[in-house]
Amino acid sequence: MVTIPELPRKTMADIKKNAEEGTYRVDVGSIKIDVFPYVFPPDSQFSRSSFYSEITDLDGLRVLDVGTGTGILAIAAAKAGASMVDAVDLETVAVECARHNVELNGVDHLINVCQSDLFSRVPEGVTYDLILANLPIVDYPEEDVRFHSLFDPGFKYHERFFADARGYLSGAGMVMMCHADLSEGSGFGRLECLAGDYGFDYTIAQTTFDLGHEWRIYEFRVIG
Ligand SMILES: C[S@@+](CC[C@H](N)C(=O)[O-])C[C@H]1O[C@@H](n2cnc3c(N)ncnc32)[C@H](O)[C@@H]1O
Repeated sequence: MVTIPELPRKTMADIKKNAEEGTYRVDVGSIKIDVFPYVFPPDSQFSRSSFYSEITDLDGLRVLDVGTGTGILAIAAAKAGASMVDAVDLETVAVECARHNVELNGVDHLINVCQSDLFSRVPEGVTYDLILANLPIVDYPEEDVRFHSLFDPGFKYHERFFADARGYLSGAGMVMMCHADLSEGSGFGRLECLAGDYGFDYTIAQTTFDLGHEWRIYEFRVIG
């Protein structure tokens, strides 16, 4: 029987414990983030190897942040010079949390947050120079919707993401995505094959080893 890997299990316990105490504030460099109960935190063991620090020099770019959570990546993009940022999340509480943090950091003139299942409510015909996607990465059945930020059963969100993403990219646009070798069957090879199936090539912008796992930041571009 497949079990939840240790790191996501520990992250779930931390998210639950923090949620019981209510909203709390985290400083990520110069960005202030209020983490609403059960929204994916920017300071978890999971996020330590995420890609906030890679979001630099986005002067004039149009950015979409898919699965924005607290809004951290969208805010980082706005502070890195993006001309506009759209940020979406499936969960109502994440949308509320991201809107709150966008205001808290004084970037509400640059960022629009809306509730959307991946690209479902992103208007067709709009294209972005950069799509940021820190999606759920553990292939495990979702038993508790409060931990939706961690689990992608059957890797279906990733499949839908790659099926639709190219329609939202400008000619030279790219997707930046963080991934780790956390669960059997949803490792790097599977991600790379899936992206290839939908016409994307990739480069690995960064590799780190942390908490007993390999973490990668991928850049995907449409082939041809
Ligand atoms: C791993 S968290 C990342 C949050 C944030 N981007 C960060 O880096 O801290 C994944 C986020 O994706 C959201 N999500 C999961 N499935 C989604 C979907 N189908 N459409 C939009 N957002 C989704 C979750 O609610 C969660 O906020």
